[in-house]
Amino acid sequence: MLAKKITVPGITAAKGERKLTVITAYDAGQAGLAEAAGADMLLVGDSLGMVVLGQPDTLSVTMSQMLHHVSAVSTGASTALVLADMPFMSYQADVPQAVRNAGRLIQQGRAQADKLEGGREILPQVRAIVGAGIPVMGHLGLTPQHVAALGGYKVQAKTAREAESLLEDSLALAEAGCFALVLECVPSEVAQLVTQTIPIPTIGIGAGPGCDGQVLVFHDLLGLYEGHKPRFVKCYAELGALAREALGRFTQEVRSGQFPAQEHCFAMDREELRQLRLNLEKD
Ligand code: KIV
Repeated sequence: MLAKKITVPGITAAKGERKLTVITAYDAGQAGLAEAAGADMLLVGDSLGMVVLGQPDTLSVTMSQMLHHVSAVSTGASTALVLADMPFMSYQADVPQAVRNAGRLIQQGRAQADKLEGGREILPQVRAIVGAGIPVMGHLGLTPQHVAALGGYKVQAKTAREAESLLEDSLALAEAGCFALVLECVPSEVAQLVTQTIPIPTIGIGAGPGCDGQVLVFHDLLGLYEGHKPRFVKCYAELGALAREALGRFTQEVRSGQFPAQEHCFAMDREELRQLRLNLEKD
């Protein structure tokens, strides 16, 4: 029997019932691995810029790059819900452009929902996208698209005033129709308060165990990213070290003549080979 596709109503219904799991993915193979591991949602994050495209931040990621990778993840996913990040400046400038770009990620990328970073300042965009029938996930706390304004990748909502503002943003996003909310890099107490207050699931990353679910970046959790490793990352495997060792053995074996061995080669039929030599002698 075919497993059923996880839906947006299925995600919202999980609040208080079971913990949600989200893993980022950027190609069909990663989607298959994350889904087989039991991920409810596959997020094609704009972390793409850093972990796949080698950029220093997420700001240069374009719509066409996102579409390329969202479409690959959609192809590799069968049951998990595919969620596409809206890249920087694809929704901030104006509402009609936000709706068109949100729609492209669904129509051309075949994602089931989009994620936007920001609070009350993007409510018109969120309302319009939801109004077009596209499910939206919010993203508050450390929002990497605002890294310049935030002055770096820092824990957010540490003061009572900032925590109150985050709570107000969370309530406003839920009211505007978001079906779930990512909380990134906020104190556990603040994430727990938001989780208890809003009616939609919270997905934490560096936001403690009180959230309704957790998300990690594929490359971080498998030890594949060479850049800065934030405190909230738990490395479940050291695939980067394993890959370096295996690749090193390949280059060393090629140089020493150990690879390829006979079992990796194709042989010509003896008679054909004899004929070839005869033909060459005649020429
Ligand atoms: O871009 C991304 O991968 C994200 C997650 C870290 C939540 O936004």
